[in-house]
Amino acid sequence: MDKFLIEGGKPLYGTVAAESAKNSVLPLLAASVLTDAPVTIRSVPQISDVACMAQILKELGAKVTFRGGSVVIDSADAHSHSIASVLTRELRSSVFMLGSLLSRFGRAVCAYPGGCDIGLRPIDLHLNALKRLGVSIEERDGCIYCSCERLKGAEIVLDFPSVGATENILLAAVKAEGRTVIGGAAKEPEIVDLQNFLNAMGANVKGAGTDVIEIEGVKKLGGVCFTPVKDRIEAGSYLIACAICGGEIEVVGVKAEMLALLLHKLRENGCKIHTKNDKIRISSNAALKCNRRIETMPFPGFPTDLQAQITALNAGAEGGALIVENLFETRYKYVPELLKMGADIEVRGRSAFVRGVKRLHGASVVCRDLRGGAALVLAALGAEGRSEVLDLSHVDRGYAGLEEKFTKLGASIRRVRV
Ligand code: UD1
Repeated sequence: MDKFLIEGGKPLYGTVAAESAKNSVLPLLAASVLTDAPVTIRSVPQISDVACMAQILKELGAKVTFRGGSVVIDSADAHSHSIASVLTRELRSSVFMLGSLLSRFGRAVCAYPGGCDIGLRPIDLHLNALKRLGVSIEERDGCIYCSCERLKGAEIVLDFPSVGATENILLAAVKAEGRTVIGGAAKEPEIVDLQNFLNAMGANVKGAGTDVIEIEGVKKLGGVCFTPVKDRIEAGSYLIACAICGGEIEVVGVKAEMLALLLHKLRENGCKIHTKNDKIRISSNAALKCNRRIETMPFPGFPTDLQAQITALNAGAEGGALIVENLFETRYKYVPELLKMGADIEVRGRSAFVRGVKRLHGASVVCRDLRGGAALVLAALGAEGRSEVLDLSHVDRGYAGLEEKFTKLGASIRRVRV
């Protein structure tokens, strides 16, 4: 398991371009089996979650070819409707395959999905919605067996705007008979991207980005060549890194409105932010003030995927902050690691009480999940002295070329292959 050696305290300067959004590319890959024509997704990030999803598609019988930054999926010969349990357990996004496989084969078998261990992460909303579309579901031996004569459009209201459930319904409903309406849908930009992708394949979907999505089922979908939206979470992580380390960087690819609350919070910290089109420029003197309170919420609220990184920032700032995690139950597993760096944080249930210590110090810390791992890297980049960040497999799931990008910005970070 690789580790980073980081010499903290170097300010960051320069420009960094965001990759395509992981949370967009994964459902798009799942959507690629909705057609037997070739599908090209451009600018795919080199992250292990994408590799894992590609492997799942191959096991279904699809041809998956990575070429010059793009991936081409040709699922004309896809024959299997069952996803190997090992792969499914590694990647939560494999749950989207249920919608796509049902749409393509009328049947799907999937092991209970994995992903980051950040809470219970049930899939009841996905399964209840699929039932509304006419799917029979049986759960036994840790696997979910789904089948249907034909998918039938329905009105579905989600109790909570789940990103994954909204996407799964879209995938199942695009070729269903008749009309499907999703009320209480998630509004994340990645859902808008999925809508655009499906419509480019010939689907009839509207309303993504609002809480009501309407899908008029079509008989057939064709191939598509598509460039996904950029990764607002990756972009936000670099902005927070610069705030922590000091310096001035420009992040390219993500519009300010995708990160409105983060930018507001970074201004509260004392950073200067300028935005123009898809460029966000931040400058920081690294002497930051704590945010009083941050609560994670579905989009356009503060993203749970940036909660760990902003907590790391607050840990090394002046004052106090209350962080409330409303989406996932156990998303503070990085906190004991931050304590090793001198942080003063008390976690009680969903709340983290941060007493800022102005500056963290280097330590040996272990990544426990993707975003928590990123937070530890950011904390180490800003800390005084040397750090060792262990078990990069989590970070590699979602950040492409992290050390190259930070090195270019002037950080001292080295990967050691263990
Ligand atoms: C997606 C993102 C993830 C992000 C999360 C919230 C991808 C690949 N992953 O995850 O990075 O952190 O959105 O923005 O896009 N829930 C249920 N029942 C369900 C489904 C969800 O109770 O059937 C609950 C979850 O436990 C959680 C909340 O709903 O508390 C949000 O989950 P959801 O929006 O579904 O997140 P994911 O799609 O898993």
